Amino acid sequence: VEGLNYLARNAGKKYFGTATDNPELTDTTYTSILENYEMFGQITPGNSMKWDAIEPEPGVFTFTDGDVIAELASSNGMMLRGHNLVWYEQLPSWVTDNNYNATGLTEVIQTHVTTEVAHYKGQPYGQILIHVRHAWDVINEPLNDNGTMREDVFYNTLGTSYIEIALTAARAADPNAKLYINDYNIEYVGEKSTAMQNLIKSLQAADVPIDGVGLESHFIVGEVPTTLVENMQAFADLGIEFAITELDIRMELPETAELLEQQKTDFYTVVNACLSVSQCVGVTVWDWTDKYSWIPSTFPGYGAATPWDDNYQRKPAFDGIAIAL
Ligand code: XIL
Repeated sequence: VEGLNYLARNAGKKYFGTATDNPELTDTTYTSILENYEMFGQITPGNSMKWDAIEPEPGVFTFTDGDVIAELASSNGMMLRGHNLVWYEQLPSWVTDNNYNATGLTEVIQTHVTTEVAHYKGQPYGQILIHVRHAWDVINEPLNDNGTMREDVFYNTLGTSYIEIALTAARAADPNAKLYINDYNIEYVGEKSTAMQNLIKSLQAADVPIDGVGLESHFIVGEVPTTLVENMQAFADLGIEFAITELDIRMELPETAELLEQQKTDFYTVVNACLSVSQCVGVTVWDWTDKYSWIPSTFPGYGAATPWDDNYQRKPAFDGIAIAL
């Protein structure tokens, strides 16, 4: 089988990519598979570009770990997806402790977004097409599952305007980057997806820069939504692009041959959905091997959510992706 990114490029000018994280990069078996543009054309840092990692103290920026990921992407010609700029989790306490009024928090957001986006501007330098597609998850997980705005420090201080503040600063800092809002449970037709569409429409009506929506896609084996394509089309109809940004499909352990077969079908279904809508620019798995998946620690009793097992063997899920492509 050819590499998944090779297949994605040929099948529809899309990319196949993965999240990765700094501690994993000392594992040379891991990096020997990761650093192959034919397999992965895009990289997302799993943690090292988040606020707590990048700006742990006000105005103090620590880019070292993020730079390692950016350099890895750049040196292999891979697109970099910056992740993420404004999110309610993995925030340093100096941001969350309600120290700031609206004016102060606006400046805090502007400084953070401007400095980080400017630092990674135009990376990677590998290929022009890829450069153009350099993307940022500017806003991460702004919505509750019922479609209302999440009441985090940003919303509670600034209302919905924090989204405009961040997007505007990101556009000014890197006019070529695709600016995204990323969330989960917006992959299927329902009130949260409708709320995201309404948010996009209101930003567009106010001339706020917004290029795309990230559909995280943390699914469960046998429970992949049936309305993926219909839902994607609704986002495409808004005149924006979108991406599958954090795909994994977890199962209740222990894994069985039957569950692995269902997982193959499920990966096929998701990748095939992206291929069927031209505005879907690519698919990113939230790491590619079970060895480094975030699932077991976050969803106790669940695991085996990625296309490679923890001994780096390709699972049936890998074939499901390859067949779709
Ligand atoms: C996860 C990382 O994978 C973990 O290592 C970390 O402990 C918590 O965050 N949605 C997102 C990602 O947008 O940033 C999250 O990543 C997974 C859920």
